[in-house]
Parts: sequence; structure tokens; C-alpha cells
Amino acid sequence: MKEWVVAAGPASLDLAAGVSSNLASRLLKIEMTEFPDGESKIRVKDELRNKSVILVQSLYPPPDSRLLQLLFAAHKLSEDGADVSAVIPYLAYSRQDKQFLEGEVVSLGVVAHLLRSVGIRRIVTVDIHSAQGLGLFSIPIYSSSAIPLLADYISKNFDLVRPIAISPDLGSSNRVEAFASRLGCEYVSFKKNRDRVTGEVKTEEKEILLSGRDAVIVDDIISTGGSVAKCAELLKRYGARRIIAACTHALLVGSAEQKMKEAGVNEIIASNTIPNRYGKVDVSSLIASYFQTL
Ligand code: R5P
Repeated sequence: MKEWVVAAGPASLDLAAGVSSNLASRLLKIEMTEFPDGESKIRVKDELRNKSVILVQSLYPPPDSRLLQLLFAAHKLSEDGADVSAVIPYLAYSRQDKQFLEGEVVSLGVVAHLLRSVGIRRIVTVDIHSAQGLGLFSIPIYSSSAIPLLADYISKNFDLVRPIAISPDLGSSNRVEAFASRLGCEYVSFKKNRDRVTGEVKTEEKEILLSGRDAVIVDDIISTGGSVAKCAELLKRYGARRIIAACTHALLVGSAEQKMKEAGVNEIIASNTIPNRYGKVDVSSLIASYFQTL
């Protein structure tokens, strides 16, 4: 196995420490100063010429400044002669992987271009929104999945009663299938329509009975909580006993938690790609395992 140095970006100090401990490698902290006007300044104090560096920086809100911090750090590391791999546990902009309305920018394509332009040689992310997004990158990118880990965590920590896994939209069908197969339970995918202008979500009804059963909603991202809330309202109406919302990336913007709770969600479980109180499922060994094979 190669000898790695793990560089912790300011957004991912704990996760970087976990990756470095899994790889038994040196951990260094990228120094970041924020000026009063909001600009970030990055400083790399170590000598890293010819070293293989894994730079870890998740792009949860505020995504633009976290992205710039990542670009600055990667630029400095590669300028100094390091071979830079970027670990971007939550890859912001991955939902804009195509033009949905005329005139829209394919944001992920621009992000892919920027990441390459600063000398990043390869990227590892977790549960990219859709496989289509991977095609926008011209450097190797690997999307690892936290879904089996979420399933293991939920099965270990909740005494589930006749569980059923639910995808709130067709886009997450493959994820719910993977989750259900790990848990050994049934699954159902709902159809969701989002108004591309207002963002409003409508979820189509299904004829299912869930009385006395525990339902686990599985998604890649929970942002405003709207998709999960709409789905939970239906599950409650169909008789679900308990509703758990499981996701890889818990962005939880604004009143997302309250909205989901009011809709009947009892528990929220996420991975630690985004450090918050719901990020209980640690993905550091998953990320490290990719580098162990190089
Ligand atoms: C989109 O299709 C994603 O998979 C998620 O369902 C979506 O990002 C969730 O967003 P929100 O929580 O705002 O409904």
C-alpha cells in the first residue's frame, strides 16, 4: 500500500482524522483564516513534495466558500509537488448534473472542470446524487456508498417491526433496493414530481397498507426536508407505526427537522459526510478502503 498523508480541510476535521487513523497515516491540518469580508485564506505549512496527499473537504453549506477553500488547498498542494487526491464526502452541485430548464448552467460540469484545473488527480465522494454526474468528470472519480452502513446501523440500533424501506422518489430506487437487500426487507419507490421553478414537491399516492409496520425512508440527501415530509404524511396515512428517515447527506436546511417531525418522522439517521447531530454513521473506513487498494 502507498504511504499517504491525509490533509484535513476546514470543513472535515473529524472525518479526515478518521480516514488517517484507518490508513495509519500522518494527519495534517490545512490552516484557514477567514477575513472580515468573508474571503478565505489557506495556508499549508508542511513540506509535501512528492507525497501522496488525500485532501478531505466536504462541501456542505456554505458550499461556495467550502469549494473555494478546497480549490485553494489543492492548488497549493499540487503547486508544491504533491500528488493530490480529493475526498469530497458531500459533493455539492451534484443535483445540477444536467440542464433541466433552458438556459440553466450544468453546475456540476463547471465544478468538475475547476477541480481538475487545480491539479487534483482523482476524487472520492460518497453517494453522488446520480451516476450520470460521474460522466462530467475527466479525471477518475469514485462514488462509494454509505447505504449498507446506514442499513447496518438501523438494524443494530432499532428493534424494527416488519420493516419496509421506502424511496421518496424514483431517483433513489437503486439506493432503497440496496438498503432493503442489506436489511432483508421489502421496498417500495414513490413517484415524486418537483416543480422546477418553485421547488414544490408532490408525491403520488400508492395503494399500500402499513398498519403496525416500521417504515424507513431512504434518500441520498435531505435538504429542506420537503421530500421526506410529503412521503411521511402518506406513510402515516397508510398506517405506519414508526417512520425513520435515513440519508447519506443531512443538509437539513432551515426548518427541515421540524417539517419532518410534524409530518410524522420519528428518527433521522445520517452519515457523517456532514458533521451534525444526526451524522451517526461513520464513513471514514469506507473512504479509507478505496485508498487501501491503490
Ligand atoms: C433529489 O432528488 C434528492 O435525491 C433528494 O430527494 C432531495 O435533494 C431532497 O431535497 P428536499 O429535502 O429539499 O426535499
